[in-house]
Order: sequence, then structure tokens, then C-alpha cells
Amino acid sequence: MQAHILQISYLIASVTFILGLKFLGNPTTARKGNLIAAFGMGLAIFATIFLYTDSVGNHLRNLPFIFAGLLLGTIVGWLAAKKVQMTAMPEMVSLFNGMGGACAMLISIIEFQHITQSSSQIAVPIGELATIIIGMIIGSVSFAGSIIAWGKLSGKVKDKSFSFQQFINIGLLAVILVLAAMAVVNKDAQMFYAVLVLSLVYGILFVLPIGGADMPVVISLLNSFTGVAAACGGFLYDNKVMLVGGILVGSAGTLLTVVMCKAMNRSLLNVLIGNFGGGSTGEATTSASFEGTIKEVTASDAAILMKYAKKVIIVPGYGLAVAQAQHVVHELEELLEKEGVEVKYAIHPVAGRMPGHMNVLLAESNVSYDKLVEMEEINPEFTTTDVVLVVGANDVVNPAAKTDPNSPIYGMPILDVENATNVIVNKRSMKAGYAGIENELFYKPKTSMLFGDAKKALTQLVSEIKNLG
Ligand code: TAP
Repeated sequence: MQAHILQISYLIASVTFILGLKFLGNPTTARKGNLIAAFGMGLAIFATIFLYTDSVGNHLRNLPFIFAGLLLGTIVGWLAAKKVQMTAMPEMVSLFNGMGGACAMLISIIEFQHITQSSSQIAVPIGELATIIIGMIIGSVSFAGSIIAWGKLSGKVKDKSFSFQQFINIGLLAVILVLAAMAVVNKDAQMFYAVLVLSLVYGILFVLPIGGADMPVVISLLNSFTGVAAACGGFLYDNKVMLVGGILVGSAGTLLTVVMCKAMNRSLLNVLIGNFGGGSTGEATTSASFEGTIKEVTASDAAILMKYAKKVIIVPGYGLAVAQAQHVVHELEELLEKEGVEVKYAIHPVAGRMPGHMNVLLAESNVSYDKLVEMEEINPEFTTTDVVLVVGANDVVNPAAKTDPNSPIYGMPILDVENATNVIVNKRSMKAGYAGIENELFYKPKTSMLFGDAKKALTQLVSEIKNLG
């Protein structure tokens, strides 16, 4: 009876994961999706703790340790999620993903000891051993890689390319696979631990040379690795909910990786070996050789331009997130709408530092979802727009993506802001964005620069519009 209830709980949990993912696909239902999936995970955990019995009918032991771990994990996770800044979200995702990889790695180590110690050498099932070692390799790569990715995003680890890095990595991977096959065939513990150490080293070397701007893509890829490693655990324990959860994370992570690469118009291989962005100090890598000059605009002139416009499109970027200017940008939008101006937001798929960054940020300040318009949909609208206000965005509005085949962002789809009548760009200086390149948009005759921190500049803009009466 207990076993049946356990399986039904697993089935319900698996359904909640799928529903949760479905709801996460839309900002209006995302919160609900997260709660539903969290409920399913809680159900699966508690059902396992109280209802699981092994083949001879024993319940789980060590309950005080299990509950102490649960409590500690809940407190740390809760506090971390409450405290994290939106700009540091990719770092946190990376760290949490690394913990998932570490869990899969530890499960494999424990189970390897279990089955090699409890069975005679001959009785050790090869299939089980292979699943254990695959889970261990993928989990360790994901763990070590995610920690390096976290270090890079938080500025603690610098990009490091070394000579022949790709050859060394491919060679190391080949050695790992050969040793793993030998460990399975010979049931050899020493070889097993050698594979463990080499997999951790591979995880580090794999992520170390990848450019900082590509870290979100790498994190998503490592996330899918963790899912596959967890699915191996599901196979091992014949645990359906672990299997379903692992496969969902694996496939969702893979899809997200593909979507991000597509949004930047780059192949995964190019991301993995391209060393794009992140190493830059913010200084542009090319000297400006554009025609035209930089034109500055004051907040009061920008206010007049916007107040008397029919249509304004706001382009949010990474700088808006850094400055935490999401509330004041919403205030500006409401103020302009009151003046009869039509206001929309243009959302580039890789604006900011992670997918959906701008949507989540603007949702935080209660911007209505129907005002957030995706790139393909908004691009034709720029020709009928009086003013585009670019706030802390750079690469996603850089025309070099279309015009300069030598540019590292060549081919990346961009927001066609220069088709509008006027473009106002707010940033603090003439420094480059993440890709480390100059932006010709800033030199165009229709562009004016509103220099300053996004929050301060927008606050000033709001008060100037109010002063206009
Ligand atoms: P960026 O190109 O990084 O430009 C952000 C700009 O914001 C900078 O030029 C900076 O100029 C300005 N800024 C920084 N702090 C500011 C502040 N407090 N107030 C005002 N401005 C500030 O950002 P983007 O246009 O959003 O492009 C995103 C980049 O990340 C792209 O290269 C994209 O390929 C990459 N990327 C994104 C993803 C995902 S999934 N989102 C994944 C991989 C790569 P100043 O220093 O002069 O202020």
C-alpha cells in the first residue's frame, strides 16, 4: 500500500514539474509555475522520507541528519534568493546548478562503493556501473564548471586562454572516456577515482577559456548536464520522479542553450571556443573611426522631446539593471502616458545578462506585460516612433551587427532603433558594452547622449517633465 502511495506521489510530482515549466513560459503565470513545481518537489521529498522502503522493507534511516540537511538547505536557499540582486542572478543560478552537479557526483561515489562492496566482483552489474560512472562524470564536470562560471561572473576568476587549449580539452575528454570504460569493465576503484579527479579538472578547463559574455549560455549548458546526471540517478534508483525531473532539466537546459545561441546568431561551437566578451575592461577595442560627432542632450531638452512625442519606445539594457532604475522608468512611462504619449518597451532576447532579464526586472516594478514587445514584433515599429530612449543598453542596439563583418557581434539580430526620428541614449560614458566594441549609433546625427547613471538621469527626466506642467 505504502509503495503505491509513494508511486502516486511521484506521479503527481512529475505532473507538477511539467505544469510548472509550462506556466514558467509566460511572465503572468511564472510565479504560479514556480510554486506548483516547488510543491511537487516537496511532495516527492517527503513521500520518499516517510514512505520509501527497500527490498527487505526497511525505511530510511538517519532521519535527524536528513532533516538537519533539509533545514540548513532551506535557510541558505531562502536567504540567498531573498538577498540576491537582479544583476547577480546568473551567478546564483550557476552556484545552485553546481550544487546539483555535486549531488549527482556524490550519489555516484556512494553508489559505486555500495555496489562494489556489497556484490562479489563478478556479480557487479555492468549496466548499473556504467550509469554510475556516466552520472559521476557529467555531475563532476557540471559542478566544477559551474563553480568556475560563478567565479567568472562575480569577477573572482579571470578568463584564461592557454595554448592548444581545445586540443588539451579534447585529449583530456578522450582519456576520461577510455579510463571510464576500463573502470566499468575491470570494476576498478582506483580508475574510478582517477576518472572523478580528471572530470573535475575537465570541468575547470572547459569553462576557463570561455568569454565572460557567453557565461549565461555556458550556465544553461551546464544546467542541462546536471539534469542528465540527475536522470542517471533516477535510472540507478529506479526512481521515476528523479528521472522525469532530470530529463526535464536536461531538455529545458538544452533548448535554452539553443535559443540563446540563436538570439546571438552564433553556433554553440563558436560560443565554446569563441572567447567572446567579458575580458574587456569596458574600454572599446576599436578606436572610433566613424563619421559624425557625439551630441549631448540635457535632461530638460530630452523631457521636451519626449513630452511632445506621439510615440516613445524605451530600450532597457544591462545598465538599467545595474542602476536599479526599473521603478523610475515605470514612473516615466506612466507620466508620459498621462500626457497622451504611447509608450512601449523593446525587449531584445539577450538584453542584460540572462534570458528574460529585462522582463523580470520590469515586472518587479509592475510594468504591464503587454507593453513589453519582443524584438521581431517591435522592429517594424521604429519607423513610426518619434523618440527611442535607450537606457543602459549598448550591444543590442549596435548597427555593426548588421554592417561590419569583422565585428564580433556581426550577425546578431539587433533592435533597429536608428529607424526612429530621434534616439536618446542614456549611459554614464562612452565606454563599450560587454562585447567591448564601439557603437556607431552614438555618432549618428539623430542620436543624442544623455550621460549619467540611469536612475539619476531618469529621475531628473521625470522631474523635468513634471516641471513642464
Ligand atoms: P551591454 O552591451 O553590456 O551595455 C550596457 C551598457 O550599460 C554599457 O555600455 C554601460 O555603459 C551602461 N551602463 C552600465 N552601468 C550603467 C548605469 N549605472 N547607468 C547607465 N548606464 C550604465 O548591455 P546590453 O545592450 O543589454 O547587451 C547585452 C550583452 O550581453 C550582449 O553583448 C549580449 O550578447 C551579452 N549576452 C547576453 C546574454 C543573455 S542570455 N542576456 C547571454 C550572453 C551574452 P557605461 O559604462 O558608459 O555606463
